[in-house]
Amino acid sequence: MPAPTAPAPTTIGTPGSPRAVRLVLLGSGELGREVAIEAMRLGCEVVAVDRYDGAPAMQVAHRRHVVTMTDPDALRAVLAEERARGGVDGAPFAGRLLVVPEIEAIATHVLQEVEAEGVHVVPTARAARLTMDREGIRRLAAEELGLPTSPYRFCRSAEELRDAVAALGGAAGDAFVPCVVKPVMSSSGKGQSVVRSPEDAERAWAYAQEAGRTGASDVICEGFVAFDYEITLLTVRHAGGTTFCAPIGHTQEDGDYRESWQPQPMSAAAARRAEEVARAVTDGLGGHGIFGVELFVRGDEVLFSEVSPRPHDTGMVTLASQAASEFALHVRAILGLSVPTDADGRVPLLSPAASAVILGPDALGAADAPAYEGVPEALAVDPGVDLRLFAKPDTRPGRRLGVALARAADVTAARERATAAAAAVRVAG
Ligand SMILES: Nc1ncnc2c1ncn2[C@@H]1O[C@H](COP(=O)(O)OP(=O)(O)O)[C@@H](O)[C@H]1O
Ligand SMILES: [Mg+2]
Repeated sequence: MPAPTAPAPTTIGTPGSPRAVRLVLLGSGELGREVAIEAMRLGCEVVAVDRYDGAPAMQVAHRRHVVTMTDPDALRAVLAEERARGGVDGAPFAGRLLVVPEIEAIATHVLQEVEAEGVHVVPTARAARLTMDREGIRRLAAEELGLPTSPYRFCRSAEELRDAVAALGGAAGDAFVPCVVKPVMSSSGKGQSVVRSPEDAERAWAYAQEAGRTGASDVICEGFVAFDYEITLLTVRHAGGTTFCAPIGHTQEDGDYRESWQPQPMSAAAARRAEEVARAVTDGLGGHGIFGVELFVRGDEVLFSEVSPRPHDTGMVTLASQAASEFALHVRAILGLSVPTDADGRVPLLSPAASAVILGPDALGAADAPAYEGVPEALAVDPGVDLRLFAKPDTRPGRRLGVALARAADVTAARERATAAAAAVRVAG
């Protein structure tokens, strides 16, 4: 059989056939699961990769690989296998292969290697590298692009951190400004603490070393920003240009998100500024896909905080608020398609909505195969309520296991209903 001719970039072949569009998801959590589902809805072949078996996206993918993605050799081997794998009939693969990172903790230099060999890394290998630690992206945003951020210093020892706390904490006149200390390689608040005096620096350093994602770690020390509210501005770079979603407001506890809602009311000036900042940072990263741009807002002033070059956890609210969720938008953008826009040129909002997380309870500790009770009560909160249970194979205190979603006439009602529905779900051992 002759090898098929190279397909047009928008051709989507049958999964398992030589012309398939093969997505290799690096990270298979709840966000990856939704990406996998959206990709499959458009007929893609989906390969789910994560460090443990039974991860949410693995449960809906064509194939899985259990691999430590921070291990360069292991990651290289998986990518080589998926690049070489032919169609089910043995014909050589002649379709498109997209490497789609879902998490930050990846040996990103391997992504740069394969990209140099012509593999499509989403949105780009450089974007994955710059956002994998706090230093790359902060220096790009603040020092190269000149965007406003919290004052910050990177510290490589407890002594440097002590000096940074004294300098940043003392920067605003009489009152001591607290500092936020975070391992440069961490997410979801791990290893993050607030320091209220230079004497506290030692403890914050030790905490960051214990709890950072990769063990011993440099830290960023940031001056605490007393923002009025914080938002995620989902920004899509796609074939038709750059399109913004309505701003998402959220609350964080212990550095991890608890509730999000869309739209977050903003002054016209702050909304405009937020889009300017988001456009600058996403242009700086490049490529196609969705970006979750985290911003702090104080009056009409907007500070850049961080960005995910992929769907954002607070953006799960778009499963309820938008006809095309952040996951659907991501898949469209990375396949080279355009995204839907309204008359203002933004992603259309279906309804105000909110999300509230369901966490592994402390009382249950670490346990396998959790079960969910109270689902009928949660859904009975309101007809506009929906649930996503992530089906993770085990629970531990504070692990995100599900999310309640609620649509309502306004965000206040949506938040109340989402929170009530999340509270109605009980996680049992
Ligand atoms: N400099 C700061 N000032 C005030 N709050 C902060 C600051 N940095 C982080 N936070 C709070 O902590 C949350 C998590 O911090 P973030 O830098 O986004 O870490 P992660 O990568 O774990 O999400 C933020 O959403 C915000 O609520
Ligand atoms: Mg964050």
